[in-house]
Amino acid sequence: MASPRGEFSSRFGFIMAAAGSAVGLGNIWGFPTQAASNGGAAFLLVYLFLAFSLAYPVLMAELIIGRHAHANAVGALRLVSPNPVLRRVGAATGVTGLIVASFILSFYAIVAGWMLAYCLAALTDLVGLTAASLWLTEFSLGRNLAFMLLFMALTVGIISEGVQQGIERWSSRLMPLLLVSLVLLVIYVLTLEGAMEGLQVYLLPDFERALAPGLIVKALGAAFFSLSLGVGTMLIYGSYISDEENLPLLGGLVTLVDICIAVLAGFLVLPAMYVALHSGVEIFTASGALISEDTLIFTVLPRLFDSMGLVGVVVSLAFFFLMTIAALTSSISMLEAPVAYTIEEHGLERKPAALMIGLVIAMISTAILLNFEALFGLVIAVTTRYGQPLLGFMFCLYAGWVWHRDTLLQELRKGNAGAEHGLFWKIWPSYVRFVCPCIIVLIFAQSLLS
Ligand code: PHE
Repeated sequence: MASPRGEFSSRFGFIMAAAGSAVGLGNIWGFPTQAASNGGAAFLLVYLFLAFSLAYPVLMAELIIGRHAHANAVGALRLVSPNPVLRRVGAATGVTGLIVASFILSFYAIVAGWMLAYCLAALTDLVGLTAASLWLTEFSLGRNLAFMLLFMALTVGIISEGVQQGIERWSSRLMPLLLVSLVLLVIYVLTLEGAMEGLQVYLLPDFERALAPGLIVKALGAAFFSLSLGVGTMLIYGSYISDEENLPLLGGLVTLVDICIAVLAGFLVLPAMYVALHSGVEIFTASGALISEDTLIFTVLPRLFDSMGLVGVVVSLAFFFLMTIAALTSSISMLEAPVAYTIEEHGLERKPAALMIGLVIAMISTAILLNFEALFGLVIAVTTRYGQPLLGFMFCLYAGWVWHRDTLLQELRKGNAGAEHGLFWKIWPSYVRFVCPCIIVLIFAQSLLS
């Protein structure tokens, strides 16, 4: 039965949507390049550890609270609180999450716009429109603005269609496409000269680098960013899950898909860099370190594709198409969080709500583009490195301390009658209560001290 506020029609639909939110530029762009410059497999291990030990429990907190309340983050955190003060703090946490989600979308749409432009540039290359390709791949205010707006329009268009017709339908179409193109690209790149060297860098651990102070905060931010935590996106998706579903299982599947795709993307990006090195493209800076992340994707890879002739154009098209899809299934989840809030708390219709919030976010993106040097990195650092883990910390407190244990168990029993005898119930409640908040605080303390 579809409730008036929308519900995913199937388990597959939810997994595609939630995995679509999780799998994004963070996995395919962020993770492999960070692994490359921070100790390869050692970074991978730190990341895997944080994803399962910290991000998964926080994801579960969001999903369970969301489904229990069948409401947006603000309404949900208010609902689980027993007293007025906690209700207010809960609502404030929810609102902060929505604001952070909007700021994340504001920089995300810029980067996704670049992906879209590069995707189009491959097409104009194919038909020989060299001048157009040049405009599309050169950093300019005009191009940045145009493609940010185009990407935002796509995002708003999907969100306007609602949960089943918009989010679920498009995620279920785009995610399988993403997986297939990723696997094909990996297979192709691994056959090229130099790829094995890249594999070695990816798979041989360098623990000294991976455990360097400051890095663990980065890995924590990366894990939270990758699972879309803290900003109410997973909570709102959780609120659209039917009561018959087993939540810990669904959450586990989403985490697994997210991690697998990040790891798989590493098998594409790292070998591709070394293939580029073999064909004469510079991938190290003068000091011997790897070229920085953004330069990597927008200079190294395109030059690699260039050196491959016509095949390169097709590969380039496939690659940037993949990035665009990954970005789109994530951006819709970011927009859904504030849109659901305005619909549910302020009585707006879905279409105008999506349009209005989309416009506000596009304005923030424009401000970032106009002050690119000063704002771009700053917004990314504040929202993802600090905002998301700290909001995740609040979700742990609400799930572990504020919400009554009995109601929590009742919620889990909905999709799994014997939940109280399962492993999840034995570990998770005290885990989100004590372990998660402590680790988050410790990691922050360490980063402030170092
Ligand atoms: N998880 C997405 C990615 O890896 C980013 C994201 C962050 C999506 C926050 C939604 C909310 O790219």
